[in-house]
Amino acid sequence: MGVLSRIGVALDSDLLNRFDRLIEQRGYTNRSEAFRDLIRDQLVAVHTATPDAAVVGTITLIYDHHASGITEKLTELQHTQHELVVSTSHAHLDHDSCLEVLIVHGKSVQVAKFADRLIGLKGVQHGRLVMTVPAHSPDRCRK
Ligand code: NI
Repeated sequence: MGVLSRIGVALDSDLLNRFDRLIEQRGYTNRSEAFRDLIRDQLVAVHTATPDAAVVGTITLIYDHHASGITEKLTELQHTQHELVVSTSHAHLDHDSCLEVLIVHGKSVQVAKFADRLIGLKGVQHGRLVMTVPAHSPDRCRK
């Protein structure tokens, strides 16, 4: 962490009231931490949107394992892109539904394309990619 700097921010009072309600709902005890998290979130968003940026993340998939060939297709795709996959975890949610979470790493563009292919498979009912970057990554958010 760098040297602590104090800044003043001028805000429209209506916007500030709305912000205060939001951060209270989210359990923040002060504005400073909420501001810091918003800034970090934007820096991570900009960083992970850079195609060559090194990222880590998770791909969450919900699918019906009865769907034709879905299990084989998911396994095949993961083997094809094995360098992107750190680990996987699978839960049988009920008789039909599976939840699979992949921990991934690699270049942003590769991870995003991989997630799109998995989420786009017929039989995958919902999927979501979350990309982030380690807090102490040497190339974190330099843009
Ligand atoms: Ni299952």
